[in-house]
Amino acid sequence: MKAHILSELGRRTEAPPISWLMATTLARPQLISLAAGFTDNESLPVKDVRRLLGEILCSPATGQAALQYGTTAGDPALRALTARHLQSLDGQPEAGRAYSPDRMIISNGSQQMLYMVTEALCDPGDIVLVEDPSYFVYLGILQSHGVQARGVPMEKDGLDLARLEAVLKDLKRSGELRRVKLLYLVSYYQNPTGLTTSFAKKAKALKLLREYERAAGHPIYLVEDAAYRELRFQGEGVKSTLSIKGAQERVIYAGTYSKPFATGARVGFGLMPEPVLTAVLRIKGNHDFGSSNLLQQLLARSLSTGRYEKHLAELRARYGRKAQVMRKALLEHFPPGVEWWEPDGGLYFWARLPERLASGPKSKLFQKVLASDVLYVPGELCYAHDPTRRKPNHEMRLSFGGATEANVREGIARLGAVIRGFLQSC
Ligand SMILES: Cc1ncc(COP(=O)(O)O)c(C=O)c1O
Repeated sequence: MKAHILSELGRRTEAPPISWLMATTLARPQLISLAAGFTDNESLPVKDVRRLLGEILCSPATGQAALQYGTTAGDPALRALTARHLQSLDGQPEAGRAYSPDRMIISNGSQQMLYMVTEALCDPGDIVLVEDPSYFVYLGILQSHGVQARGVPMEKDGLDLARLEAVLKDLKRSGELRRVKLLYLVSYYQNPTGLTTSFAKKAKALKLLREYERAAGHPIYLVEDAAYRELRFQGEGVKSTLSIKGAQERVIYAGTYSKPFATGARVGFGLMPEPVLTAVLRIKGNHDFGSSNLLQQLLARSLSTGRYEKHLAELRARYGRKAQVMRKALLEHFPPGVEWWEPDGGLYFWARLPERLASGPKSKLFQKVLASDVLYVPGELCYAHDPTRRKPNHEMRLSFGGATEANVREGIARLGAVIRGFLQSC
């Protein structure tokens, strides 16, 4: 028998596409990256943070408290402020149980929360239902843990519920329903498609999951990843699943201050019911027994002084402008036959090429685009390894987050020229 030094998880974990995308970007300083999920550098609140940290560190009492270890669940003030903030986003005047800070854990970005929740609920061989396509870093967590993903296609207003029901039925028929632990939704301005799931669809999805619980023999949770929720630049705000009456026992809400405030601070949070809450708290106790106290205090102060809201208003206007720049460039430079969805918020456009034109990392198109110093995220990276279907490979995620407005224009112009050339020759 061959001895292994690495654990099963260590051996199973594949290289995340994010590492490869970052390495490609770093190797070419002149590259226009429409791939990065980075926020706009110029938007980062350097002055605000300098002032806020100055306020925290100006007295020994507040400074020492911030520079000391905190608790595993996180700073009570930040949890209370976050709970109130979520209530106000959902238009809920009453501080109901769903929003209780006692159900909340602060994490190192929402990424850590997604990891811990998955670890708390899933064993190798379990099944997680995901949007098809979905956030590729989350797909990496599933792959690493040996969890199977089942993709459910998307419609313009979110998950295709008829297909969700068909997948659940299939799993029931094949006796695999007991392995289904959760449905993962990136519900606002989704990474990668930019689509938002309507409130009605979220409520119906929850109802459907409930209907299949008896056959599963356990709860099936809905994980709502709201990473881009606050980056809305047009359209109506959509309420979260936390606001659905009686849903709190089945909803796990993951939020973050990365996108709306500072990606470098990586302060995220999750709200969840028992027994997940206790399990995640214990797992976090083993990970790091609490996120950076200083950064939590920074966020708490930005919320309590109103600077967070002020910054967010500027940020929304900026991304609204940049989305328009990308939209105009797409209209001008992309040839007929290429389609895209227009987002109401977030950082992404999702473009679909004619099916005969492959866009994957090894495709001629991708290589030619890279040779013209432009990078996009190949759509196929955003599809889970789902044995029940072939991965579509003619799509691309285009981000207007990190690039300057001039580079968004130039990047789309170059990309459009390469696509046009390929479509003419094939
Ligand atoms: C959909 C989604 N969820 C979660 C995250 C994690 O963000 P953070 O850990 O910075 O909160 C990201 C980051 O890009 C994301 O796109």
